[in-house]
Amino acid sequence: MTDGKHEVLVIGGGVAGLALALEVADHRRVTLLRPASDDQGASRWAQGGIAAVLSPQDDVEAHIADTLVAGDGLCDERAVRFTVEQGPSAIEWLLSLGVPFTPDTSPDTGYPYHLTREGGHGARRIIHADDATGRAVVETLRQHVDAHPNIGKYGDLTAIGLIGDSEGHCRGARCLDTDGRLHELLADDTVLATGGASGLYRHTTSPQPASGEGMMMAAELGAELMNLEFQQFHPTCLFDPEGPAFLISEAVRGEGGLLINALGERFMPALDPRAELAPRDIVARAIDAEKQRTGSDHVFLDIRHLGETAIRHHFPTIHAHCTSRGLDIVHQPIPVVPAAHYSCGGVTTYLDGATTVPRLHAIGEVACTGLHGANRMASNSLLECLVYARSCARRLQTADTLPIAKLAPALWGSQKVSLESIEEIREAMRQLMSARMAIVRTDQGLNEAARGLAQLHDRLAPQVRSAAPSVPLTNLWHALRLARLSVDCARARRESRGLHFNPDCPIHGDETPHPSRIQLEEM
Ligand code: SIN
Repeated sequence: MTDGKHEVLVIGGGVAGLALALEVADHRRVTLLRPASDDQGASRWAQGGIAAVLSPQDDVEAHIADTLVAGDGLCDERAVRFTVEQGPSAIEWLLSLGVPFTPDTSPDTGYPYHLTREGGHGARRIIHADDATGRAVVETLRQHVDAHPNIGKYGDLTAIGLIGDSEGHCRGARCLDTDGRLHELLADDTVLATGGASGLYRHTTSPQPASGEGMMMAAELGAELMNLEFQQFHPTCLFDPEGPAFLISEAVRGEGGLLINALGERFMPALDPRAELAPRDIVARAIDAEKQRTGSDHVFLDIRHLGETAIRHHFPTIHAHCTSRGLDIVHQPIPVVPAAHYSCGGVTTYLDGATTVPRLHAIGEVACTGLHGANRMASNSLLECLVYARSCARRLQTADTLPIAKLAPALWGSQKVSLESIEEIREAMRQLMSARMAIVRTDQGLNEAARGLAQLHDRLAPQVRSAAPSVPLTNLWHALRLARLSVDCARARRESRGLHFNPDCPIHGDETPHPSRIQLEEM
């Protein structure tokens, strides 16, 4: 069924999608597809905050320099400068909308909101709303989006593919409703804000992460993908095998939390002068090595020395969650383990969110702007969501209707695929990615991953060709092919750099770094 013609179609209801919808809606009619459940995606679970140069003691050049160092030589300096320079006005915008950032009442800081520190940052520059910043920003943006008369919202449609035309433009999206009926939403402009690909892994910091569906939908239409091998693992997810995924914010280390191993020893100072506040790739690798050395399945984050008042004041969400899981973090160290957290790669985009496919834009974690390089610095991601949502919105504010063109048809079968078989293949994919394509990779492990994923692909492909479309099936099909492309990028990179650490390849030298660029061939 074709559901009319839309002006600007936005797919995704996290910070990037909501911010863009709001910024475009005074100029053009927006249609926003957002997930049915608020728990989906990653924005809501971001705890730490948003990095921006706000303190009079900080400066733009320092934020740029820290980002470049964390990105281990692979950042696009133009994107870094653009993002950092736009940071303060993005925060002003959020303040004007009423985001309840945590105030700072001490007289000597020179800025009215509290700024915390996180790994890689040489200054206090993370503005936050206690330890639940993502939730506060999403809820504020949602209130404004819900009240805006020019934004139409769908909570019951899931995009399963983009629509292309004979001229190579994106013309909207094919979606399924909750009864499995297909809807074609034609649009003049389409914006992907669908999140990253941490769901390719077994353990993640978000309970319902995306698995790269948006990246693959764009790739199917011919868009270039970039830097897929750089999957970030957050060093400190709560180690709670029976409980839901739960992040322990990097701000906990920023405020003085110490990492200790199973023997009660602190291990970071011997490895890096920045100790617990080294960039994430370094800390996650150190924890991984320490787990192996001590034979333990986790390490600890110790904040007992901060005292109960400071713990409850700075980290009310973490304190409440840990208490609900039977853990008294005032008197016990917190068991933590790295978990898949953020995809530094994604759909290649320019400074205005445009992709290599005309009329298709990508913002937020689905995109690869070049800001993060080989390793994202903490709290630069919500900043990126806001800055690129706003720059993309500026581009889309002017209406530009496309003439009628021939649309590429969707080819589907009619058979049903059992959910058990989908779940089995998904679990096998996640197992392979977690075992072979995680914090430390080896040539042999990557070859095994490539073989294993190819076998899973061969099992799924005939089912995809004959099956009726369904959300679990198309999501898995997108995820599995993205996993294969990510492993291809990792095998092709013959150096260790940032999040891609392979002891069979040397640590990179001073040579000119090259991003991995990849386009989908028929798989
Ligand atoms: C955190 O609070 O540690 C997560 C923030 C981020 O990933 O930038």
